[in-house]
Amino acid sequence: NKTYRIAVIPGDGIGKEVMPEGLRAVQAAADKFGIGLELTHIDWASCDYWQAHGKMMPDDWKAQLQGMDAIFFGAVGWPATVPDHVSLWGSLLKFRREFDQYINLRPVRLFEGVPCPLAGRKAGDIDFFVVRENTEGEYTNLGGRIFEGTEREIVIQESVFSRHGTERVLKFAFELAQSRPRKKLTVATKSNGIAVSMPWWDERADEIGRSYPEVAADKQHIDILSARFVLQPDRFDVVVASNLFGDILSDLGPACTGTIGLAPSANLDPERRFPSLFEPVHGSAPDIYGQNIANPVAMIWSGALMLDFLTHGQGAGRQAHDAIVAAIETVLREGPRTRDLGGQADTTEMGKAVAALI
Ligand code: NAD
Ligand code: IPM
Ligand code: MN
Repeated sequence: NKTYRIAVIPGDGIGKEVMPEGLRAVQAAADKFGIGLELTHIDWASCDYWQAHGKMMPDDWKAQLQGMDAIFFGAVGWPATVPDHVSLWGSLLKFRREFDQYINLRPVRLFEGVPCPLAGRKAGDIDFFVVRENTEGEYTNLGGRIFEGTEREIVIQESVFSRHGTERVLKFAFELAQSRPRKKLTVATKSNGIAVSMPWWDERADEIGRSYPEVAADKQHIDILSARFVLQPDRFDVVVASNLFGDILSDLGPACTGTIGLAPSANLDPERRFPSLFEPVHGSAPDIYGQNIANPVAMIWSGALMLDFLTHGQGAGRQAHDAIVAAIETVLREGPRTRDLGGQADTTEMGKAVAALI
């Protein structure tokens, strides 16, 4: 029986508060279904580490993580002490790029018992995936400033869309759509305004789509697509988007299901050449850190996705995933609930309630 090696990186802010609850649930499910885990706790990739060392991670970070089966990650960012682009490009974004985690898979689901900000929606009405490109696109450090500090100042920020990078995320999304009952794919675009990359992105989607005749694919400009997340969320099944568009949609989608405190994500290298990384969609939430009131569900659900991925969606890992999600469903329906869900429970109470049901 294989023992899976997991790097545990809480990071900053509420990452440090929700991580113990993520681990509590993952450990309970692993014990129950006989999955061996070897946890390595890591205090770098945090702004505390930056304050002590002047960098986000040790120089041998990649060697330390390379042999891991997965990375379980809280959140990074503490803008009061480290500029966000420094902390994020020095940690999370490095992991995504260096470990070629080119899929960021972000489920969006309305649960029973969770107040929905959209009128007339009930559990089951919202149930889709955002498939976000995770290594290129609008997220680059290419560009520069000239005539700095003068009235002639110019700032250039490049985007990069490679054929390889675009086709692989589209393929993943078409495969996922094909595997689902509704077989619908929405391709986020902006080919009316972003005149070089986006018409080309549309062409790639058409080309890949020819291999998936059963999938009903349609392209939508990101502006109206955002509006439809709010007005007609039931029409979505799988949504594929570039890095930035996917980032925005993956906060908007969960907001439509009540709170971003529920939303998990899987940063995947589907070929398993490198460790994949599992983390909440949300960040370090400095505004609520220190009170132990953060919703731990996003972290816990991310742990379920991790166990499922480790065992290729089969056997004990799939059972562990399903048991965690069932426990989340029960707690969301019956409580205890954190404040973002209208309850009074703290992070630990809610986390313990989920773990107890596993
Ligand atoms: P955020 O996601 O941290 O917080 C946005 C809002 O949502 C805040 O009001 C916060 O209190 C609330 N919130 C977030 N998670 C919650 C939870 N689990 N339960 C209840 N409420 C929750 O976004 P932000 O404020 O833009 O960013 C704060 C810091 O986190 C920045 O440094 C940012 O760069 C970083 N960040 C990191 C990640 C990551 O590590 N993946 C993701 C997003 C933001
Ligand atoms: C996310 C976050 C990150 C992103 C930030 C912190 C760089 O918002 O994981 O969604 O934009 O990818
Ligand atoms: Mn985001």
